[in-house]
Amino acid sequence: VSSFEISQMQSGCTPSRPYYLGDNIRELFPEYLRHYYFDEVYLVTSEQLNARFGRSLAQTLGEADIPVNVLTIKEGELSKTWDTLSDLCERLVLAGVTKDSIIVAMGGGVISNIVGLAAALIYRGLRYVEVPTTMLNLTDGTLSNKQAINGAGGKNQFGTYYAPIFIWADVSYVRHEPLRQLKSAVTEAVKNGLIDDAEWFAHLSTVLNPTLDYVYDDLAGFCRDVVQSKLSVLRRDSTERGECIILEYGHTVGHAVEFLANGRLLHGEAVGIGMCAAARVGIRMGITPPEALFHHEQVLRAMESPIEAPREFEAEQILGVIIADNKRRGGDDPRLILLDDVGTVHSVDGDFETPVPQPLLKSVLAER
Ligand SMILES: NC(=O)c1ccc[n+]([C@@H]2O[C@H](COP(=O)([O-])OP(=O)(O)OC[C@H]3O[C@@H](n4cnc5c(N)ncnc54)[C@H](O)[C@@H]3O)[C@@H](O)[C@H]2O)c1
Repeated sequence: VSSFEISQMQSGCTPSRPYYLGDNIRELFPEYLRHYYFDEVYLVTSEQLNARFGRSLAQTLGEADIPVNVLTIKEGELSKTWDTLSDLCERLVLAGVTKDSIIVAMGGGVISNIVGLAAALIYRGLRYVEVPTTMLNLTDGTLSNKQAINGAGGKNQFGTYYAPIFIWADVSYVRHEPLRQLKSAVTEAVKNGLIDDAEWFAHLSTVLNPTLDYVYDDLAGFCRDVVQSKLSVLRRDSTERGECIILEYGHTVGHAVEFLANGRLLHGEAVGIGMCAAARVGIRMGITPPEALFHHEQVLRAMESPIEAPREFEAEQILGVIIADNKRRGGDDPRLILLDDVGTVHSVDGDFETPVPQPLLKSVLAER
């Protein structure tokens, strides 16, 4: 088990907590949990994940004489609702959770988000541990402390910052993820290279292929590199108000395309498409060198991941969603994160978001 200290301070929540990473480390979990005082453990996961991984983790805790209760909640983006959240909170209280209990959230980002929010709310805050089972959650979601459910009008509308006491990242779970889902998470890793680490990006460009052999060969090593790449950005900006925004590279167009795709594109796939669009915008504005676009497309093609939005999405439609999103945030012109080059984000006076004229953006989106 290797460990890092995650120490960014966010909205006043726990300033420092350990992130434990390893491959097939289930047997060690009780020992690490025992660093904390608690009466009982409440493991929350989905039914599917409970059958796959939850039961054996609960059994390991039981064998170590740790009292454990297992609760399951529904899977999927559609269950990130007030109903699921309140139902979980009530069931935990009914099951006897106390201020001395520890909640364990086991699953992808959806489960993590719901359980993290429940932990923040019950008795004004219970301690909880993250056990991510998807690569996206392991390398991204669990590092940010952002807990949320969706509202009727959009994703992640209601939530708070709340940190787990530690993160237990056992990459052996990730090995069971569908390849397409894993590739989607790897695209976010590629993004970290594009915005902040040209050398690592160049390396990834030479090793990534459609079957992700490089990733599977040393899953723990790869996940460690991705986590470090995100942490190095987070450390420079502990509040996610300034430089952290660069982690949103590709997300302006990406979110719009993901929204229009209505489930047909995974998040990372949409971000890949969005990064290529951002590179094209950067070239038109004389900010990004043309070779950078070639590098974007090359690495995504190497994984057989999409580089362009599905043809049926008109530029007008994509732009419409971007503008609506933007209005909600109180902006005028769409603002995109652009690259000065691979590994370096463009900024003016410390502002990493560049206003892009709508006609230019529209013409780039029509360029297919
Ligand atoms: N808090 C944050 O900063 C943050 C960051 C990124 C994403 N998110 C949120 O996370 C969610 C997406 O998370 P996700 O990509 O982890 O998806 P997810 O939680 O929806 O899980 C996707 C699917 O993978 C399955 N699954 C989980 N682990 C598995 C495994 N080991 N093997 C096989 N199947 C497995 C699940 O059952 C589910 O069907 C979104 O709601 C997003 O808003 C939050």
